[in-house]
Amino acid sequence: EATLPLFGKKVVVSAGPTYENLDPVRFIGNYSSGKMGFEIAKAAANLGAKVILVSGPSHESVTGFPIERINVVSARDMYEAMHTNFSDADVVVMSAAVADYRPKEIAEQKIKKENDNNLIIELVKNPDILKSLGEIKTHQLLIGFALETNNEEEYAKKKLAKKNLDFIVLNSMQDKEAGFQKNTNKITIIDKDLSMQQFEAKSKTDVAEDILNVILNKL
Ligand code: C5P
Repeated sequence: EATLPLFGKKVVVSAGPTYENLDPVRFIGNYSSGKMGFEIAKAAANLGAKVILVSGPSHESVTGFPIERINVVSARDMYEAMHTNFSDADVVVMSAAVADYRPKEIAEQKIKKENDNNLIIELVKNPDILKSLGEIKTHQLLIGFALETNNEEEYAKKKLAKKNLDFIVLNSMQDKEAGFQKNTNKITIIDKDLSMQQFEAKSKTDVAEDILNVILNKL
């Protein structure tokens, strides 16, 4: 509807973990559920946006919402989907937990147990998707996440600058209400002007609405 505040706007959200294959039956992954990103996608759809959700492997669903879901597996798949959808996007929220490294080689057959007690797997760096988007951004509002276990504010501010973001959403692993696979989250939003907004712990649905309100104020 034309009266909704994000009508005519394209919002691209990434969510969930990435899986980096080792062989046909194994991968390196992480505990991200995708909940936060899915809630952001739904909140944007509720405000009338055209929403593209680029999701790593997740059990979450967008049934009943007018959201275009693109399923990806690896960081490199996600890189491609995000870049394909970037140029005409108005808002891009990168909430996925992207693997920083992937196995250098994917074995064609299942890796066999050997007599040696140690198995060494060489890893290579994945592209930093968010940083690559920050380097080419023109009009897009670009938002990142930071999940830290220590020195969180300092690290978040560094990321904000390094990745050329408009703001960053910080969730601390030190909060019992925050983090992977929880239904609640407690966030701090740090703007590129370095002003900070702290929010109470609340459901990820409500956190998503807070984030969308900050986005609306910036459009
Ligand atoms: O640098 P760090 O991984 O802590 O930054 C987190 C932010 O960067 C998140 O928004 C995450 O989605 C994004 N990211 C990315 N590509 C990577 C690693 C992280 O887009 N390879």
